[in-house]
Amino acid sequence: MSIIIALDGPAASGKGTLARKLASHFNLSLLDTGSLYRAVGWTVLQNKGDPTNQEDALKAARMIENTDLSNPELRSESIASAASKVAAQPAVRQTLVDFQRHFAANPAQGKAGTILDGRDIGTVICPDADAKIFITADVETRAKRRFLEEFGAAGSDKQYQEILHVLKARDNLDTNRAASPLKQAENAYLIDTSNSDIETVFETARKYVSSKM
Ligand code: DC
Repeated sequence: MSIIIALDGPAASGKGTLARKLASHFNLSLLDTGSLYRAVGWTVLQNKGDPTNQEDALKAARMIENTDLSNPELRSESIASAASKVAAQPAVRQTLVDFQRHFAANPAQGKAGTILDGRDIGTVICPDADAKIFITADVETRAKRRFLEEFGAAGSDKQYQEILHVLKARDNLDTNRAASPLKQAENAYLIDTSNSDIETVFETARKYVSSKM
């Protein structure tokens, strides 16, 4: 029997780092589902399309199996914002459901299970996941971490304010859309990382997942 872990949370909450650490510790196949929406957003922009246009976004979503999810260009904040726009469309989300559920149910050879991180894994994609974590932090803390990652000590207050503004806009779109909004599943374990470092967060998550195995 393999285990499925659902890990959800807002942008820049540290889910990617936590997901990688849990995947490595518990020997799990990892899917960063944000990269699927980013790949769709990226393809739309490459094709000179409009991420808010359903026809453009759906065409890109149907090609997801042929898209390189490790393309470093997917990591930029402009692609994240295109991702958030395509992700608000129910038809696009529906197109990506099977891909994610298939991944969840089929760990790679030799792996003990799967972990998926995103916004709706515990609520919609894998409602029966063995362990569900919702990781969050206040938006100022998340903006500060992003800012330090990007600019280090040399960054200006203007650059910080810009990051804060962009994160708030993305939170707003991801939380208030009608289709599978970002939401803590009822039975998800909440970890607030506002005042914790990654090692403490990992240790908390590790204990919780172990208790579910
Ligand atoms: O996790 P991320 O920042 O890479 O995600 C980019 C965007 O993709 C995010 O703003 C909303 C969308 N997304 C989503 O709607 N559902 C998911 N399961 C993952 C990401």
